[in-house]
Formats: sequence, structure tokens, C-alpha cells
Amino acid sequence: MAVGIFDSGLGGLTVLDAARERLPDVEFLYYADSAHAPYGVRDADDIYALTKAAVEALWDRGCNLVILACNTASAAALRRIQEAGVPPGKRVLGVFVPLIEAMTERQWGDNSPPREVEVKHVALFATPATVASRAFQRELAFRAIGVDVEAQACGGVVDAIEDGDMILAEAMVRSHVDALRRKMPEPEAAILGCTHYPLMEKQFQDALGADVKVYSQGSLVAASLADYLTRHPDMLGEGDGGFLTTGDPRRVSDRATQFLRREICFTAA
Ligand code: DGL
Repeated sequence: MAVGIFDSGLGGLTVLDAARERLPDVEFLYYADSAHAPYGVRDADDIYALTKAAVEALWDRGCNLVILACNTASAAALRRIQEAGVPPGKRVLGVFVPLIEAMTERQWGDNSPPREVEVKHVALFATPATVASRAFQRELAFRAIGVDVEAQACGGVVDAIEDGDMILAEAMVRSHVDALRRKMPEPEAAILGCTHYPLMEKQFQDALGADVKVYSQGSLVAASLADYLTRHPDMLGEGDGGFLTTGDPRRVSDRATQFLRREICFTAA
């Protein structure tokens, strides 16, 4: 029994780790489309085609449920995949909604009209494609009114993380936070809207200062997945867990082991 977790590369491991902690008895099949990462600089058609191929590969391997642990794919491809129709018994879900529900203090699945919430000034850090899609602002508008969102497209951060160049990644985080502050001097909350960024969470928090509440997706997505699987146990699927990549398995395994500080062994997708 395995639930599929998809990302363009290593960022989704931050979601996988939180899901494993929350659901220790569930197996997960992780798929990193490393050969095509980063997605955040691609156009929406390209992201759709790559995401669809990866989701279908996970369905074919027995997963009934695939989590897009990638904001870029959730922003540019999720709705299109769902609207095109998924095979019977299969599902694909994204990572925006649990985060927005937490920020707007809603219970899971609360569909009541948008209302005023406490937080008024929100900084969104995400990939260029996620920012361009405005998907985050759209989902937020369904749930909250009066929230000012300033988005910062963080070009280069994912490439640096995928290359294991954490010094460059940190320098880029600082410069993106500076750029955001020039547009919104005093954000109350910051959204790490890319699953790679929790690997740099401390650097974001340091650059933003202790007064800014930083939201990242791992534990929020894990909690909503646990809730979903309780309501839909048939979504546990078939097949074994593991780690697949479209890139070089040894290189990807080395980086993943470095990030998660435990042995991770990817095989070819
Ligand atoms: N981790 C991804 C996200 O959440 C993908 C980043 C990328 O491939 O550019 O957006």
C-alpha cells in the first residue's frame, strides 16, 4: 500500500518526512522529476505535461492517491489534471489548501464564505511560475477578505538547493527577503510557498526577524493527509513505497541523504 508523493526534485522530501512522522504505518512512493527540475522557470503547458506524466507513472505503480508536494505543479497543473478527468479510483491533491486553511484559521473542508482574518499583511515566497499563476491569491480569496499579499518570485533558490550549494541558497534567500521588504516593510506572516524552502527555513526566519510568523507546509499537509485517509481508507493504494527519480539516482540519493540526514536510496523511474 503506498501513497504517491511527487515533486520536481528534492523539496517534496520536506512533505514526505512530515507525512512519515504523522502516519508511520503508511508507505510512500516518492517521485522526483530531477531530470526536468526546476519547474519554477517553465511555462504552464510544460509544467502540466511533466506533472501529468509523473502522476500517471505513480498511478500505474499502484498508488491511488498522489500528493503534488510541489507548489509549482499544484499552481500550474493540478486543476487542469482534475478537470481533464482522473481514472476511476484515483485522486491527485495539491499543497496550497491546507496551508491557507491554517493561515485563515479554518477547519479542514470549511466552505463558508470568505471572512476577515487576523493576519493582514502576508509575504509569499515562491517560484516564478507559482507567483505568475496567482493561484495562492485565488485560493486565499475564497476564504479570507482584506488580506494584502505581496509575492516575491525567488528565482535561483531551487537550483542552488538542488545543486547542494547552500551558501548560494542562503545568499539568495537574504536578497529575496530584502526585495520583499522594499515592497512590504512589515509583513506579519510569511508563506514558504515552495516545498524546497523549508530546507532553508532558519535562513528565512533569520532574515525576516522573529516577529514574522513563518508558515511552511510539511506538518500542515501531513495533518490534512491523515484526515483525508481516515475518511478515504481505500486511497491507501497498492504497491511498495520507495524513491524514484528521472535523474541520476546516485547523485539524487547523495543530496537527499545530505538534506534529510538519513540514508535515502533512489532508483531510476
Ligand atoms: N518544490 C517545488 C515547489 O514547491 C518546485 C520548485 C521547482 O521545481 O522550481 O514549487
